Amino acid sequence: MNPLHWSLGLGHCHSSLLARFLTPQFGYNGSFVPSPGGDASRGDWISSAWDLEKHEGEAVPGTCVVGLQWGDEAKGKIVDLLTRDHDIVVRYQGGANAGHTVVVGEEVYKLSLLPSGVLTSGVTCVIAGGVVFHPTKAIAELDELSSRSVEDYDNLKISDRVHVIYPWHFAEDRVLDQNTADGENIGTTGRGIGPCYRDKVGRSYAIRLGDMYRNTFRKQVDHIVGVKNELLTAMAGAKDFEPLRASAIYEEYSAYADRLEPYVDDTTELLLSAAEEGKKILFEGAQGALLDVDHGTYPFVTSSNSSGVGISNGSGVPARYINKVFGIVKAYTSRVGGGPFPTELDNEIGQRIRDQGNEYGTVTKRPRRCGWLDTVAVRYTSRLSGADSICVMLLDVLSGLDELKICTAYRLGGKQSNQYPSHVDDLRLVEPVYETLPGWREDLSKASSLADLPANALAYVKRIGELVGVPVEIVSVGPARSQTISVN
Ligand code: IMP
Repeated sequence: MNPLHWSLGLGHCHSSLLARFLTPQFGYNGSFVPSPGGDASRGDWISSAWDLEKHEGEAVPGTCVVGLQWGDEAKGKIVDLLTRDHDIVVRYQGGANAGHTVVVGEEVYKLSLLPSGVLTSGVTCVIAGGVVFHPTKAIAELDELSSRSVEDYDNLKISDRVHVIYPWHFAEDRVLDQNTADGENIGTTGRGIGPCYRDKVGRSYAIRLGDMYRNTFRKQVDHIVGVKNELLTAMAGAKDFEPLRASAIYEEYSAYADRLEPYVDDTTELLLSAAEEGKKILFEGAQGALLDVDHGTYPFVTSSNSSGVGISNGSGVPARYINKVFGIVKAYTSRVGGGPFPTELDNEIGQRIRDQGNEYGTVTKRPRRCGWLDTVAVRYTSRLSGADSICVMLLDVLSGLDELKICTAYRLGGKQSNQYPSHVDDLRLVEPVYETLPGWREDLSKASSLADLPANALAYVKRIGELVGVPVEIVSVGPARSQTISVN
């Protein structure tokens, strides 16, 4: 293997793409090779090349695609483009709260639980143990793919460690108050995600997929339904809550277990062996890094580690096998649900972006809140996720605006800083400091190379790379595979 490709953890195909993307013009100013010891201050690039020859032949197979904002950055498209160069595609956190839209030719696929990789034949798709798994949804998505003649999902592997979402989790999302202490609503997707993760760490009322094949399954369901009925009845208040029936749930979920049995596996073992054998693994992040339960805008977050830090705990693959992280960034910002959003545009421009970008939830159909690009946030999440490069998505949506603003710093208590606040109350108070760039009128959707972009669009992308401190590798100007520009 070409040592350069090895150093980037790339297969033969997309490595050449990548090599073409690396250019000083887009914020990249030196050797691409980050410190092998893991330089904490990402964005500082070491100038001397790592001794590539020395590492020739070692397996470094892991590539990850992770959203750097509040989700919906169009990760599915990049995963779809990279999938064919990989042996395995892995979803490792979140559940059916995430929506991926993938456009293949004329066909539009909307998946929420299955990895986008199911659309590419010959690739093994893994739902790893860190996912909370809604069997009804998984089966519905498999059936939908079958009905559209996508039959290659024989290679689907679902971890026997995934925690399963049960009707009581949906009931909890509905019945329990989703407000935070200060009264603002988190605005969850209502898919039982938080309640299922809560039971996972609580341990007493959790059922993993592997449990459903044991003869203790019925007893577990009976026990949990008894407790949940008491809790939910007490907490429902004015909200309707019809007590759950253990026997019906047991019958229903046993049928799911039978249907899914061919796909159930110990994926931790499978992935460890694959990594050790040097197979190429693509990790598909769900949501975005700002929704990370530990490092995001807590409590307005999801319940898993949706930044790059979640790859290992969700998949079981140690960080040493993950050496290439694509950070996915929308050319602007969007957010669904509650929580502060410093660059939000609650005005005509925001509405225009929402309409042009079709910013309505894939899963919930809720209108997304839209605003200017915030590079304080993206610089933070890019460092947190260890992004080697960024992909700027939905650039075409910004056509037609006279000028564009990029947030470059925050002002708080009279001080200016580019550090992302750790407390949500400070994030509420920050005042964004903007840089204004000229807009462009041209339609970008047919652009296939950087040369096709108007000068102002090019300058905008270049500035993003500079401000984030990571090279821009891909620019996307529409949902189709063909509407993708390699930065070279
Ligand atoms: P939950 O993940 O359903 O508990 O929702 C918690 C927060 O994460 C809410 O603000 C949701 O809108 C947000 N969220 C969850 N999944 C996604 C996603 O895929 N895209 C964007 N926001 C999401």
